[in-house]
Parts: sequence; structure tokens; C-alpha cells
Amino acid sequence: MPDQALHSVVYSSTATKPFSPVDLQDLLKHSRQKNSTSNLTGMLLYRGGRFIQVLEGPEDVVRDLVETIRLDSRHTGMRILLRETLQQRNFPSWTMGYEPIGVPADTPPEGYRDTFDDLYSSDTSVTIRAVRELTTWFRHRSGRAT
Ligand SMILES: Cc1cc2nc3c(=O)[nH]c(=O)nc-3n(C[C@H](O)[C@H](O)[C@H](O)COP(=O)(O)O)c2cc1C
Repeated sequence: MPDQALHSVVYSSTATKPFSPVDLQDLLKHSRQKNSTSNLTGMLLYRGGRFIQVLEGPEDVVRDLVETIRLDSRHTGMRILLRETLQQRNFPSWTMGYEPIGVPADTPPEGYRDTFDDLYSSDTSVTIRAVRELTTWFRHRSGRAT
């Protein structure tokens, strides 16, 4: 049987309670262990009580996990920003990459995103461009693979 198509989902959601660094570490540790056995990769961003996650892998696995995550009471209001078929992974080395996003400086350094606002645009092409920029930003910013 041929390999299943590579599928990617990007969603946003809101934490039901603020996540502490320990909460995030626990979530990442568990997710990375599970994702590595399911052949899933991606990234997670958390800032100001909001999550953005990219999940990529075999289509069925990604779809099932998205529905599992949707039911997780630690967050709510999951909104799918993008679903697409990939030729190759954007995060091949990350079972779940994570970058903390600090409080922005007065003048953010070049390439630094201090807002997610354009991700929530009602114009799909704006959302897609914002997701692409975020992906590039993450890969550029994250020197390590986890
Ligand atoms: C924002 C967020 C992101 C998550 N990302 C993942 C993930 O990438 N992989 C994963 O297995 N679980 C993830 N989870 C956890 C799942 O919702 C669920 O708790 C977990 O898959 C259940 O694992 P278990 O069957 O070992 O108890 C995430 C949860 C939240 C709130």
C-alpha cells in the first residue's frame, strides 16, 4: 500500500487556565513522546493564553489527533486555520517544536513576530500568508531540533 498523503493542520485555541512553564513542559514532554511513535511532527506556540499549533503527518493520524486535542479541557475554541496536503514536512526534526514568545520589545528585531492578529483574518489568503511567515519565523528562530 502506498504511503498515506502527508497532511498538515494549523489551528488556534485559547487556554482555559493560564499555562505555567511547568504545565507547558508537561504538555510538550507527553506530546513529543506520543508524536514520535505516531510519526507526527510540528510546532506549538503559546502566548497570552493562546495556542497556535501545526501538526503534520499521515492524514488519518493527524485528523484523529486534532479531534483528541479538540476535546482537551485545558483549552477551548479550537479554530482550524489551515488544512493542506504537503509534499514534504516543514518540521521534519521536531516531534513538537516549541518557542516561547516573550513580551515584545519596543522595536522588535527583524523577523520577530509580536502579533498573531493577521492569523485570524477573515481573508483566507491573509491567514495562509501569516501561517507561512510563522513557519519560516519558527524555523529560523529555533536553532535546535526537539
Ligand atoms: C494545546 C494542546 C496541544 C496538544 N498537542 C498534542 C500533541 O501534539 N500530541 C499529543 O499526543 N497530544 C497533544 N495534546 C494532548 C492531547 O489533547 C491529549 O491529552 C493526549 O493526546 C492524551 O494522551 P494519553 O492518551 O496518553 O492520555 C495537546 C493538548 C493541548 C491542550
